Amino acid sequence: MKKNKIQAIRGMKDYLPIDIAFYQRIEQILKQVISSYGFSEIRIPVVEKTSLFERAIGSITDVVEKEMYTFQDRNGDSITLRPEGTAGCARAGIEHGILYHQEQRLWYMGPMFRYERPQKGRYRQFYQIGVEAFGLSGPEIDAELILMTARCWKALGISNHIRLELNSIGSLETRKQYHKILVSLLKNNIHILDKDCKDRIYSNPLRILDSKNPAIQELLINLPPLREYLDSESNHHFLGLCNQLDIAGIPYHINQRLVRGLDYYNRTVFEWTTNSLGAQGTICSGGRYDNLVTELGGHSTPAIGFAIGLERLALLVQHCNLKLQPNRIVDVYLITKGPEKQHLGMLLSEQLRNLLPELKLMNNFCVGKLKKHFARAIKLGARFAIVINTDEIGDEELILKDFLHQTQKKILKTEVYSILASLLDLKLQSPIEDQLH
Ligand code: HAM
Repeated sequence: MKKNKIQAIRGMKDYLPIDIAFYQRIEQILKQVISSYGFSEIRIPVVEKTSLFERAIGSITDVVEKEMYTFQDRNGDSITLRPEGTAGCARAGIEHGILYHQEQRLWYMGPMFRYERPQKGRYRQFYQIGVEAFGLSGPEIDAELILMTARCWKALGISNHIRLELNSIGSLETRKQYHKILVSLLKNNIHILDKDCKDRIYSNPLRILDSKNPAIQELLINLPPLREYLDSESNHHFLGLCNQLDIAGIPYHINQRLVRGLDYYNRTVFEWTTNSLGAQGTICSGGRYDNLVTELGGHSTPAIGFAIGLERLALLVQHCNLKLQPNRIVDVYLITKGPEKQHLGMLLSEQLRNLLPELKLMNNFCVGKLKKHFARAIKLGARFAIVINTDEIGDEELILKDFLHQTQKKILKTEVYSILASLLDLKLQSPIEDQLH
């Protein structure tokens, strides 16, 4: 009897080679921009102690209360698949003593896990590329991170489809004071609150500002914005940031209702959003978290960061920048006619790899008509096919077929290295260097 097929877990996608070629192109651009600001990669575990996220993100947040994948390991310890990277990054920084009295500019990339209701742009395993800057308290670094993201959007060709929402949520004290005002307004209007908001009224009332419920939005119109209660230092910081963005020519929209769903933030919070993707329009979000390192047992260290949701970013790029080509899987498809001559193809391809280390070359190892091989090369996205050892060409020659310009010519085998290097813009290793290494 045929067995049942086992399928992937709901909300957890497979990324096939064709998807990866596109993701890698996007990631390459992001990493290049991030590195150009002097940030270095850090790799942190995918699982951490549950208490890390409870303490960092806050135990009364949606992420911790409802969305974490938490298990007991074989020792009976409670561990959690990371729902985000900031907590782990701060934990690692404290553990390795790299935050104390020094600046650190770090980035990471990898899967995050949240038990949310899956839909377009919202998954239970999704990928983030995140950036965290530790040890800098002034608004300059806030501005620089925003400039960095703006540069990423420009490089990806999506700047016109994404906008920056900005706010300051001030200090812990500011928020306590504001909580009181908000709670009293909400209690006086308890009859219009939905269940979600009633649940949050004492635990996390600020999140009610985010509510999409029109009746609640209407009620909140009369509420003075949190910004009016900011302490003077937070206010000064926010004005400093806005000023830097104005000077740099980065447009932003001050969204008084932007509070973010993770508890560790203070002062600056921001989101880059789009209207082009439906409900899941937040592509990138972040903010300042000056108290997190202390909260996790480290020395007081100011910090700010952001994370980009890579699936949402890829959807947006696909939606609005058709020019961005996926990374090519194969540059050259090498066809050797006749099974008894395959060793010649192998020798030539190894020599091509010696002299053009960046070249992506695939050998054909099967017999068949040239037309069939060309069709396969095109399917792989190859720019060129090389054909050796046909009846029509001599041993010292080969055929170079250019799929982009739809041309085909005979060339000498000795010329192929420099021709490919120039047409594909690759570095040609000199044979002497090759011998030395
Ligand atoms: P976050 O807003 O929870 O922040 O997530 C960052 C980004 O991850 C979101 O803007 C969104 O693009 C993406 N994202 C979140 N949940 C999902 C999901 N279920 N499916 C697909 N994409 C998703 C953080 O994670 C903070 N650690 C950001 C940060 C870094 N703040 C300071 N430093």
